[in-house]
Amino acid sequence: MNDTDKRLIEDYLPIADISEESSIENSVTQARGYLSKALLSILHRWWARRPLAACRAAVYGALVPASRFVPGNGTDTQKKSLGRANSAKLIKALCQRGVSQDQLEQAAQHIREAHGDTAPRVLDMFAGGGSIPLEVGRLGCESYAVELNPVAHLVELGTLVYPEQFGHRMVKELRNWSRIVYERTQQEVGDLYPSILDPKSSPEALVGNSQTEFQVSGFERRQGELRQPSGFLTPVAYIWTRTVPCPRPGCGASVPLHRQSWLRKKAGGFVALKPVAGKDRQRVDYALLSSSAEDPKEAIVEWGFDPSDLSAGGETTCPICQTTVATMHIKASGESGRMAVNLIALVCTRSGDQGKIYFSASDIPSSEDEEKKASGRLPVIVKQGNFGVYETKLPPRGTLGFRVQPYGFKTWDDLFTQRQLLTLLTFVQHVRQAYSEMRNGGVEPELAKALVTYLAFIVDKVAERGASVCRWHPGAEKIEGPIANGKMPMVWDFPEANPFGNASGSWSQSADDVIGAVEALANGGLKKCIVQRGSALALPYEDNFFDAIITDPPYYDNVPYSHLADFFYVWLKRSVGHLYPEHFAAESCPTKAEAVMEPARHGGDSEKARAEYEKMMSQAFSEAHRVLKPGAPLVCVYAHKTTAGWATLIDAMRRAGFVVTEAWPIDTENPSRQRSKESSALASSIFLVAKRREAIGKGNYDETVRPELESTVRERVNSLWDLGITGADLVIACVGAGLRAFTAFSSVEYANGEEMPAQRFLTEVESVVLETILARLSKEVGGNGGRYGLAAIDAPSRFYTLWRYTYKLAELDSGEAIIFANGTHVELDGLQGLSSGARPMLEKRKGKYRLLDYSERGGDTSLGALSQDGQPAPLVDALHRLLWLMERNPSNIPDFLRDARPNTEQMRLFAQALAGPVLKGGELGEVASGTELAALTKLTANWRSVVEDVAEAAVGPLFRDARKN
Ligand SMILES: C[S@@+](CC[C@H](N)C(=O)[O-])C[C@H]1O[C@@H](n2cnc3c(N)ncnc32)[C@H](O)[C@@H]1O
Ligand SMILES: [Zn+2]
Repeated sequence: MNDTDKRLIEDYLPIADISEESSIENSVTQARGYLSKALLSILHRWWARRPLAACRAAVYGALVPASRFVPGNGTDTQKKSLGRANSAKLIKALCQRGVSQDQLEQAAQHIREAHGDTAPRVLDMFAGGGSIPLEVGRLGCESYAVELNPVAHLVELGTLVYPEQFGHRMVKELRNWSRIVYERTQQEVGDLYPSILDPKSSPEALVGNSQTEFQVSGFERRQGELRQPSGFLTPVAYIWTRTVPCPRPGCGASVPLHRQSWLRKKAGGFVALKPVAGKDRQRVDYALLSSSAEDPKEAIVEWGFDPSDLSAGGETTCPICQTTVATMHIKASGESGRMAVNLIALVCTRSGDQGKIYFSASDIPSSEDEEKKASGRLPVIVKQGNFGVYETKLPPRGTLGFRVQPYGFKTWDDLFTQRQLLTLLTFVQHVRQAYSEMRNGGVEPELAKALVTYLAFIVDKVAERGASVCRWHPGAEKIEGPIANGKMPMVWDFPEANPFGNASGSWSQSADDVIGAVEALANGGLKKCIVQRGSALALPYEDNFFDAIITDPPYYDNVPYSHLADFFYVWLKRSVGHLYPEHFAAESCPTKAEAVMEPARHGGDSEKARAEYEKMMSQAFSEAHRVLKPGAPLVCVYAHKTTAGWATLIDAMRRAGFVVTEAWPIDTENPSRQRSKESSALASSIFLVAKRREAIGKGNYDETVRPELESTVRERVNSLWDLGITGADLVIACVGAGLRAFTAFSSVEYANGEEMPAQRFLTEVESVVLETILARLSKEVGGNGGRYGLAAIDAPSRFYTLWRYTYKLAELDSGEAIIFANGTHVELDGLQGLSSGARPMLEKRKGKYRLLDYSERGGDTSLGALSQDGQPAPLVDALHRLLWLMERNPSNIPDFLRDARPNTEQMRLFAQALAGPVLKGGELGEVASGTELAALTKLTANWRSVVEDVAEAAVGPLFRDARKN
């Protein structure tokens, strides 16, 4: 790829549009019905999936030359800007959720035309849930996916291969077999989930007497619902609490550990349980509370009880004797098998009615017998199915995100109650049985394998909401799985779904979800993908094989993939492991070649873990370099908001032989892009663009690198600014482009022959970028760029402007703040630091920095005053003091201006720049904090009367002259 072969992604991407479409894909409700990240997640969970819109834009942008959109006529500038407008329009349309087959085909045609009328080969070497390879295939390329983890590999087969291979005909079959598995399992273990007599028709059904029914609307009925004879209710969830024996000798109570007891938390219908000492003073009973208040706080007042306020982290007091129950005691009870579970509530549905009905367990006949029954039957099925249970160990204590091990949980199967285990194993047995019957019935082996793989996905889904570490979501009245957020915290009160019910965690709902997703994929017109399980560190391809690599590697310790995946691995191994012996031979997911920064694998040594992770990433980039064709692009998703971690990644790419050419910040995660709010001022991922470097050579810093850096950055700042890119997005995109000047060489030398360390690159680039942005800002507010322009202001004030411009009100992690400070030539800490001294500009708390505004600083009477040796204070100090006086004590302004002698011309530019309209690229917005912005707006609007006239009257022309010297 030479300059004439510059790709779209190296020139311009409409990142705001791509971000907006991407963010919408995170919402399940909006994403059903078309191919989206949420739809893929419904098929099977995988972590850190990327939105399809962003992947599609990256694939298209990496494979289509920028020149395609440039018109033949006009001046160079006109051609360039028209070209960008044209490509942006096309990419925007291509990213829409409802993109048509025609649009995809047209895009595919553009890609083929750029590759000699053939379909280019594109690899994702960390393919995960398969978002990128899916889009590669949809855009008509030959799509290759490599992934180490067997669970992810199966998910990829289910997403990228089977729907294309078998199409729609598979869907009917799948429905049919899903019903068969359901019915057979229900026949065997359905008795463990007995219906209960409906107190509406049989009031004697209740053993207690508290109010039991709270009916509400909103329940959606599904196919395959279990029909009840009238007069009965279907349990859909059993709510349990863990208990430990009271530590006080002689008390004998089982102390519940529940953290909260809300059952329903919706306006107009609140339901909760209140623990009360039972009659025998050993048991805890539960009173069911309900309220039709509009607000939970009102309900709490009405009840005189706060259901959120039970145990904290499991630490609690015995409700019978009030003895404190400490965490140590709870852990010890767990370790010695004395932690038990106790049913506290039951959630039911009534056939034909909407809504859910809640009972306190104290009011209905005990159902703990079912757990005993299940326990008695478990050994039989374990033996029949040759299911090893309690064999696969949980990851070692201390593993990132895992908190359950200290409480006596040793294996994955410990995370299930006996009834859950028995039911899941029965499902598994019938899934296996289904495969034999399909084969005996003449179904071709590959199709049978695909069908049972989807049945196994349904089992996984039931298991995910059928473990004793799930949570009841009282706002949505449904069950949430334990590992959704990539963590496995300890849970004290948990719901157990009835798999034969018709609510969350049931087979019928899970099957509807999986089959619905398969159907959408089968209708999606996908192209075949080549999916391989293997390691990115040793790719199974020959040299110069691919036209592009687009990939999303694991990022340090963000997600412990293999450990989380073991949750599913143990179930998939049982249900379909025999059909994939090459992937499921081991007891758990492979960890050895896994790229992750996991101290637990290095005896707790974080430094070693980090070094190992970085070594693996370098190795992966070297492999990428080897299998790419000369000059071919590499797009690497960097799953982090800021540039702080870039240095290592970029250095690894450079050493592996890549030139970094661009970086595009894209918001892939936030449900809606609220750019003005603090944290979301930063995009959630950065798409780094690189290409294979062909020439090996040393770059001379002064002669080549620095001039190249300056001219690239100038071009990028100005052209992206004109395209409406602002703030942190602009900084990141320009830093990405600036890195090209360094990474174009295998090493960069100073004039004396000394090699420039790679860590310097980033600071150097950042500094040039910020400098250039400041110059542009100055120009926008009418500064001439010379002595009185913004670029000439003192360092703290420059820092203040640029920070506000880039990060608005966001707090910054120290790593990022340090890079930023280096780039603006100030210190954060230490004697001269902006966060220290008598008048700090930054607040440092818990390792984060926040910029203070005038209302937090201006009250200091010495702020903005001349220093002892008569030097003017930083402009930002003078401005903050001036704003304060303007708001609270205007009569002191003349004295202040006379004594402090600020450069009022510069101060005006500075205030205008901060006032927002310019910083936000034309639109008014919260660049400064709300209060500061209001004050700045007032000040700039009344500049003459507040400052000029006053200054003139106070000091006369003398003052002006003094300033000019
Ligand atoms: C960020 S995720 C990819 C997510 C994917 N882009 C998606 O949208 O679903 C990174 C993936 O890299 C995989 N991985 C880790 N080490 C690997 C290795 N050495 N070779 C191949 N894949 C690896 C992890 O299992 C994980 O699925
Ligand atoms: Zn007690």
